[in-house]
Amino acid sequence: MSAVGIVAAAGSGSRLGADRPKALVGLAGRPLVAWAVDTLLAGGVDEVVVVTPAAERDAFAAVLPGSVQLVDGGATRTASVRAGLLAAGAAADAVLVHDAARPLTPPEVVARVLAALAAGAPAVVPVLPVVDTTVAVDAAGTVTDAVPRGPLRRVQTPQGFDRTVLVAAYAALDDAAELTDDAAVVRADGVPVTTVAGDERAAKVTVPHDLRIAELLAAPR
Ligand code: CTP
Ligand code: MG
Repeated sequence: MSAVGIVAAAGSGSRLGADRPKALVGLAGRPLVAWAVDTLLAGGVDEVVVVTPAAERDAFAAVLPGSVQLVDGGATRTASVRAGLLAAGAAADAVLVHDAARPLTPPEVVARVLAALAAGAPAVVPVLPVVDTTVAVDAAGTVTDAVPRGPLRRVQTPQGFDRTVLVAAYAALDDAAELTDDAAVVRADGVPVTTVAGDERAAKVTVPHDLRIAELLAAPR
């Protein structure tokens, strides 16, 4: 089974508030996007496409291996992955879609996703349990319900797909649709999504606190 990785890196990182696109922000001296590309390759992906903000392609090329293909992203993550999928071509059996914003994802997570695909799953997501008590509130912030957390999971990336299944699901999706991940795209097309174990280190860097935690984890011991 051959696999292509698509790294969604075209976001601005408004919640992080850095002076450059989030994927170019440094972690232990290397941009987040370089960590994400390394993870995919180390985990067994054969080639990688990185989706960048259109105006920043040169800056990305300067920090990534020459073998990485760069393509212009869109206004939403959904549009960016759609562009990456188009550029990825038809050679690979499987596609793994990963967030540049999850720099410390261990390669073992990639390997678990690839193994589930090789075993025949059409769609695979890494997940973790919900550990906090989880509630619903009304408009005033008053708790209306406790949500049983047993069946709940937090979904991470990389998410893996049979390539033809993902291509068909994006083709069926409205051009203007905006979904937060790719498993939602295939589920909208009726495809069952399998889960494998995620990893706390695959946490997403969203706000400055997350980057501070990542720096602690990445520091040499
Ligand atoms: N992403 C993308 N194209 C977009 C928006 C997001 O490729 N138009 C990517 C981001 O680069 C990131 C991943 O999707 O790696 C997850 O998105 P998020 O964490 O929300 O990143 P940003 O959209 O950049 O951050 P923010 O929402 O705070 O602006
Ligand atoms: Mg965003």
